[in-house]
Amino acid sequence: MFNRNKKEAIISDGITRRSFFKRIWIWLGVVAGLEFVGLSLSFLFSGKRRVGTKDLNQVKVIGRLEDIRPGSVYPYRSGQLYLVRMADGGFLALSLKCTHLGCSISWNEDDEKFICPCHSSEFDKYGDVLSPPAPHALDIYEVIIEEGMLKVDLGKKVKRKKFEKTDLTYG
Ligand code: FES
Repeated sequence: MFNRNKKEAIISDGITRRSFFKRIWIWLGVVAGLEFVGLSLSFLFSGKRRVGTKDLNQVKVIGRLEDIRPGSVYPYRSGQLYLVRMADGGFLALSLKCTHLGCSISWNEDDEKFICPCHSSEFDKYGDVLSPPAPHALDIYEVIIEEGMLKVDLGKKVKRKKFEKTDLTYG
């Protein structure tokens, strides 16, 4: 049917084609808006959960304190880190990802340094760069000592320029 006064096609019960499409666009806008609000809330909520509580899936038990000798370096491959216990008893959990392009470093016991197989960057046991192209020290993870057990929180990775004494954790 055609409404000559308004010069628009009436498709049903007085609804013109223009108003019909206008309503569809409004509903699509409402749906898109609700999806946006829902996604924003879920993003904010998941962020709060990570910050406010400890994600137990990310905390890995390494072992008992007394079993970890001072002056030693232990690979913990499944956790993607090296655990270093300094001679004074301090702990450092080093990411094994080279800070150049992310290859996995290896500990060389004889030379007491980490070596990257990709472009030969070298790091000392504190994670500091001995030779480039690695641009900065190895990242570290938070070390947790609870009831005589040593744990590492893989959810808390810290980037750093170079080693500082405060990077060490003591039992
Ligand atoms: S990725 Fe390690 S030196 Fe390039």
